[in-house]
Amino acid sequence: MEAIEVTDLRKAYGDTRAVDGVTFTVRAGETFGIVGHNGAGKTTTVECLIGLRRADAGTVRVLGEDPARRRRALAHRLGVQLQDSSLPERIKVGEALRMFGSFYRNAADWRRVMERWGLRPLARKAFGDLSGGQKQRLMLALALVGDPEVVVLDELTTGLDPIARRETWRLIGDLKTAGTTVVLVSHYFDEIEALCDRVAVFAHGRVEATGTTGELIARTGTASLEEAYLALEGADR
Ligand SMILES: Nc1ncnc2c1ncn2[C@@H]1O[C@H](COP(=O)(O)OP(=O)(O)O)[C@@H](O)[C@H]1O
Ligand SMILES: [Mg+2]
Repeated sequence: MEAIEVTDLRKAYGDTRAVDGVTFTVRAGETFGIVGHNGAGKTTTVECLIGLRRADAGTVRVLGEDPARRRRALAHRLGVQLQDSSLPERIKVGEALRMFGSFYRNAADWRRVMERWGLRPLARKAFGDLSGGQKQRLMLALALVGDPEVVVLDELTTGLDPIARRETWRLIGDLKTAGTTVVLVSHYFDEIEALCDRVAVFAHGRVEATGTTGELIARTGTASLEEAYLALEGADR
């Protein structure tokens, strides 16, 4: 079964056609990249995927369900890290994990999640006192504490230093090994290239192409995903 199916999705904000006919599918167990420059419609698409925003037109299915109608049921099977998500400054790492774990029917043991993501030494630290990398690690752990079948990560490594980024990459690799379906949204081409089985190239609210990095490079006769993106985006104008 496909884990996610998006067909002709459309969403406008006033005159801005943020998502303008987007179609793609994500297979179960795959790490799927959504890549594109700022304003390409990535976050809006993701918000429709998780039922946070209602599309103007098109269909979305996540694990066979319509997120706009079945958000509560899906919430138990879906882990989400949104762009710009945050927590109260004074909540402690351990408290946040325990609280998020309590939201889920089949939650993983929050203490084990804390251990696994190297957050144990930070358990009593307040969110506001964490470094950028530690905050991101916590956000990723919170997205996973419900033991989700599908994980959606929007700009997870933006603002991280190179070491913290690499560490995050390793953790995402572990998810793939565990068979979790991952949707990774990023404007970092190297990240998508390193982590994703397949990629949807977003530009101007549309999917310009879908395939493995190798396929996209071959199709455009370029040498990297970034060059392939620029060729595909340019062709659209
Ligand atoms: N809540 C909103 N209200 C008005 N315009 C928005 C809103 N969210 C996004 N947009 C606009 O929609 C377009 C796509 O944005 P977004 O989906 O955030 O793209 P991306 O995540 O690829 O940067 C941009 O032009 C952006 O300015
Ligand atoms: Mg975005």
